[in-house]
Amino acid sequence: MNPFEFKNPTKIIFGKDSIKKLENEIPTDAKVLLLYGGGSIKTNGIYNQVKKALEKVNVTEFGGIPANPEYAVLMDALKIIKNENITYLLAVGGGSVIDGTKFLASAAIYDGDTPWDILSKNIRTEKGMPFGTVLTLPATGSEMNSGAVITREETKEKLAMGGPGLFPEFSILDPQVIASIPQRQLANGITDAFTHVLEQYMTYPVEASLQDRFAESILQTLIEIAPKILKDPTDYKAASNFIWSCTMALNGLIQKGVPTDWAVHAMGHELTALFGIDHARTLAVIAPSHYKFNFESKKEKLEQYAERVWNITEGSIDSKAHTAIEKTITFFHELGINTKLSDYTKDYDGTAEEIAKRFTNRGWLGLGEHQSLSPDKVEKIVKMTY
Ligand code: NZQ
Ligand code: ZN
Repeated sequence: MNPFEFKNPTKIIFGKDSIKKLENEIPTDAKVLLLYGGGSIKTNGIYNQVKKALEKVNVTEFGGIPANPEYAVLMDALKIIKNENITYLLAVGGGSVIDGTKFLASAAIYDGDTPWDILSKNIRTEKGMPFGTVLTLPATGSEMNSGAVITREETKEKLAMGGPGLFPEFSILDPQVIASIPQRQLANGITDAFTHVLEQYMTYPVEASLQDRFAESILQTLIEIAPKILKDPTDYKAASNFIWSCTMALNGLIQKGVPTDWAVHAMGHELTALFGIDHARTLAVIAPSHYKFNFESKKEKLEQYAERVWNITEGSIDSKAHTAIEKTITFFHELGINTKLSDYTKDYDGTAEEIAKRFTNRGWLGLGEHQSLSPDKVEKIVKMTY
């Protein structure tokens, strides 16, 4: 096991009707900016629950943060934060609203001229404006981690940011919020969380037995609840396991002491930036080709995954590992998620070259657990997804 440090300060408040506990978490003298997305919270009752819990607090609102939170929209929210002397942010939404809020928490106290630099120059946020979240869509784990991904339509970029100042102070997880989530987003959530685990597991063995079993148990739980939650999102037991699996998949715990990859996300983010494909779907496009291309260096973990997650016990190491990749593809298909870039766009010609060029320009010359995935390899992997 590799050396590590672990600190996660986010308080999780989990359970039925837990949104009302908001009133205990936000200081009564705070000037709160309530941030939300395109309006789903207004039709599913979450907005009313939040407003009721905040009756005693001074609240300004900012709605309209789009999926793949857009820099230009967030800059409008930043003006409100400055003009209204906001002191506390509350994100009510999925990964996009929470990530947008993290950007604002950082930008609100950033003293440079151009907040985009936080992303383009990779400036770590040591301290941000305090914020909490009410999660409405299990998927990203953003509710319990310190990372965010922001999109800029103008330049077709999607870049990550983070730092210890960007953990939510608290996150409320009420599994009942899942009832109103459309099938497409449920499938996305399962796929995103599943791939988060793979990014922190599908590398090479370092005898980190507990982390491996944490990772495998999250994958198994997601496989188990997927058909239940797609059939009936009001199934409270399945919803509870779904929401907690997604949070645990990316709250920092399972990556401690083990090598991590994250090249699938790096390539996937480019597909969202270029074509607007849902984040999770880009992962389902990239992951199978990535594992096939890097088969030799990943096959020990692929075999372990085959045996422990998919119960494939017969055959050689290579055949078990290959079957596990095929099982993963079938799992995505069963969720209704396509796994080829050509399923999403007919304009894919030149995509691989463009992504390789972007990575070269950014100095991303060696991704993955061995820092050896060079732009020419990235180009080959993306071509395999056509
Ligand atoms: O905008 P509204 O109207 O609220 O509708 C949203 C949105 O259209 C809807 N939705 C959310 N909760 C709902 C609901 N509809 C009905 N009932 C509910 N309870 O779902 C749609 C998608 O929401 P979004 O927040 O975009 O989805 P998700 O949570 O999958 O977030 C995706 C974003 O997170 C980033 C992605 O890149 C993407 O930008 N990620 C963030 C990470 C992190 N911070 O750690 C890691 C991830 O790998 C990922 O990159
Ligand atoms: Zn993701």
